[in-house]
Amino acid sequence: MRKILILFAFTLFLVSCKKEVVISPITKDAFRFNQPEQFSSPHYNFENNPLTEKGFELGRYLFYDPILSLDSSISCSSCHAQAHGFADHNIPLSKGVDKKFGTRNAPALMNLAWSTSFMWDGGVNHIEVQPLVPLTSEHELGETMANLVIKLNKNSFYKKKFKEAFGVETINDQKLLHALAQFTSMLISSNAKYDQVMAGKTSFTNQEQQGYELFKAKCANCHTEPLFTDYSYRNTGLESNFKDIGREKVTQDPADRGKFKVPTLRNVEFTYPYMHDGRLFNLEQVLTFKSNGIQDSPTLDTSLKNGLNLSKEEQQAIIVFLKTLSDYTFIGNPMYAEPVIQ
Ligand code: HEC
Ligand code: HEC
Repeated sequence: MRKILILFAFTLFLVSCKKEVVISPITKDAFRFNQPEQFSSPHYNFENNPLTEKGFELGRYLFYDPILSLDSSISCSSCHAQAHGFADHNIPLSKGVDKKFGTRNAPALMNLAWSTSFMWDGGVNHIEVQPLVPLTSEHELGETMANLVIKLNKNSFYKKKFKEAFGVETINDQKLLHALAQFTSMLISSNAKYDQVMAGKTSFTNQEQQGYELFKAKCANCHTEPLFTDYSYRNTGLESNFKDIGREKVTQDPADRGKFKVPTLRNVEFTYPYMHDGRLFNLEQVLTFKSNGIQDSPTLDTSLKNGLNLSKEEQQAIIVFLKTLSDYTFIGNPMYAEPVIQ
């Protein structure tokens, strides 16, 4: 318990060090979105969903509650675990209700307020509608929105919490989506060693610095600082005969075959296994692949046509650098942990 209190106080201290920008109109229980100084303004600005502490807390309850699934067996957190940067617990493909497997690896969830699109193929373009997919997919929570709303309206705890958060007597699907968006858009990770080095508070070791230089030369055209993604879709040559056509599913354009959204690399140490189908289990495998496993095809990214040709020593330096993106105040932030239902 003491440890938790200390961690909590430490997090409050870190949070209070950041520049505060109030994005939502100030309400009675004004709750702030802590804009990290080194990031640009977020894409999602809570325009139609004013951020409040009660709304965030409600989203957090819902995120951890199996009530959202057909048979009350799984919750969002079953596939998105805080200790793993809100990616899945070590498994390539996630298991939904009735133990049905999906076809993609659950991505890490962080800094989503800056994302312009969601899912590996960008098939969803708004953070407020994103949960419709997991809530209703037979490979995930397997529910219908109509049934969910009936279930929540029969639940006295949620009746009370929705009233406190949004002032409504009857829960509807829009308020459910708003509450989830308040939680997911507040998952901010911006306090890794990397950030402290950039802010001049500490410095890299020689090996980390070597990895950083290589990263800027070979990786940052896609994994662009400081969010470590440029939000584009790229074919990185995982295969030449695509089992999953990726972005082409959304655009129907063969020029998009095998392209997937560039994932952030923040907290990448914890988000294994890697790639859209979780085929690579550790960073050594990722670096071996990126160095000399790239397969050619017509849509392969031009920057990868000749491979990245990194020596083992260079690969190791990059891995050491990637670990400076681990943010323990995010992974251990009690604000994001499973709440205790009172
Ligand atoms: C059965 C496992 C599973 C459950 C349960 C689940 N997800 Fe996911 N989630 C995934 C997978 C897999 C993807 C990637 C899907 C794709 O790209 O097609 C994903 C993608 C996402 C994304 C997009 C992230 C990005 O950067 O593109 C968000 C946000 C998200 N989930 C939030 C949620 C929320 C909120 C819930 C609960 C309502 C939830 N998930 C429940 C497996 C799950
Ligand atoms: C041409 C753009 C591009 C370049 C250059 C690039 N990447 Fe990636 N990276 C991607 C894309 C796109 C994915 C997702 C691919 C997929 O799942 O099919 C990815 C996935 C990853 C992953 C897995 C992340 C996860 O959550 O699954 C890691 C780690 C990674 N890249 C590290 C690197 C490193 C290190 C370099 C430089 C040596 C690099 N990348 C260069 C585009 C790029």
